[in-house]
Amino acid sequence: MTRRPMVGGNWKMHLDAAAATALATDVAGGIGADSLVDVAVFPPTPYLHLVAEIARGAALQVGGQDASGETQGAYTGQTAASMLFDVGCSWALVGHSERRHGLGEDDALASRKVRAALDAGLRVLLCVGETLEEREAGRTFPTVCGQFEHSLHGIQTADLERIDIAYEPVWAIGTGRTAGPSEAQEVHAALRETVALLYDARSAERIRILYGGSVKPANAQALMACEDVDGALVGGASLESEPFLDIVRAAFPPEHS
Ligand code: 13P
Repeated sequence: MTRRPMVGGNWKMHLDAAAATALATDVAGGIGADSLVDVAVFPPTPYLHLVAEIARGAALQVGGQDASGETQGAYTGQTAASMLFDVGCSWALVGHSERRHGLGEDDALASRKVRAALDAGLRVLLCVGETLEEREAGRTFPTVCGQFEHSLHGIQTADLERIDIAYEPVWAIGTGRTAGPSEAQEVHAALRETVALLYDARSAERIRILYGGSVKPANAQALMACEDVDGALVGGASLESEPFLDIVRAAFPPEHS
C-alpha cells in the first residue's frame, strides 16, 4: 500500500486576520484544485472560518489546533469539535506538546478529544513526542508508543481509519534542532509496529505518520524520504507560503518531484 503523503501547517498563535487571509490565499493558489499530497492548515480558532472559505475549491484542508473533549455546554473558552466541523474544518489536532507540556493535558483528556472529534465527523492528527529528558533517559519508545496507546483508549479499529499520527519530539519543536532522518525513522517504525500490535497489520500499513519539529525546506526531503515518514507537520516554516509550498513539493512522490 502506498500512503498518500500529508503536509500540515500549524500556525499556532500567530498572524492576524489580514495575514491569515493572505497566507491562506497564497497556499490555496499554490496547490490549486488538485494535489499529489494532502495539505492542511491549522489556523488560530478565530480565523478558521475565513480560512475555510478561502480553502473551498482548492485542495486545501483546514483543521482546528485543538478540540474540546466535551460536546457542548458550560465550557468557557473551549471549542466543540462539532463547531470546527460547522465552520468547514475536516481535521483536529489532538495532543500537541504545547498542550501536553504547556497546559498539562494528559492522555486521558486526549482520548476524550479524539472521541469527540471523530464523533463530530472530523479526522484526527494525534501528536506524540518525547522530551529531551525522556530521550536522554532512553525512554523515547515507551513514551511515544505509550502516548499513542493511551490517547486512543477505547478507539476501535474502524475508527482508526480517520486517525493519523504526528511524531513531534518536544526538543525539536521551535528549536531549529531536528531529529535526523534515521532518528525519525526508528521512532516512526516503532509507532507503526505499535499500531500493528494494538490493532492490526492493515491499519499499521494505512496509518500516516508525519514528522514535526523544525521541518524546513532544507531538511524536508531527507526526512520524508524515510520509509515510515509520510509527511510533515510544520510550525514556523508554515507561516510564509513559499517555504511551506517548498515543503509540500518535497513530499511529492519521487516520480513527480
Ligand atoms: P516548528 O516547525 O516551529 O518546530 O513546530 C513544529 C510543530 O510544533 C508543529 O506542530
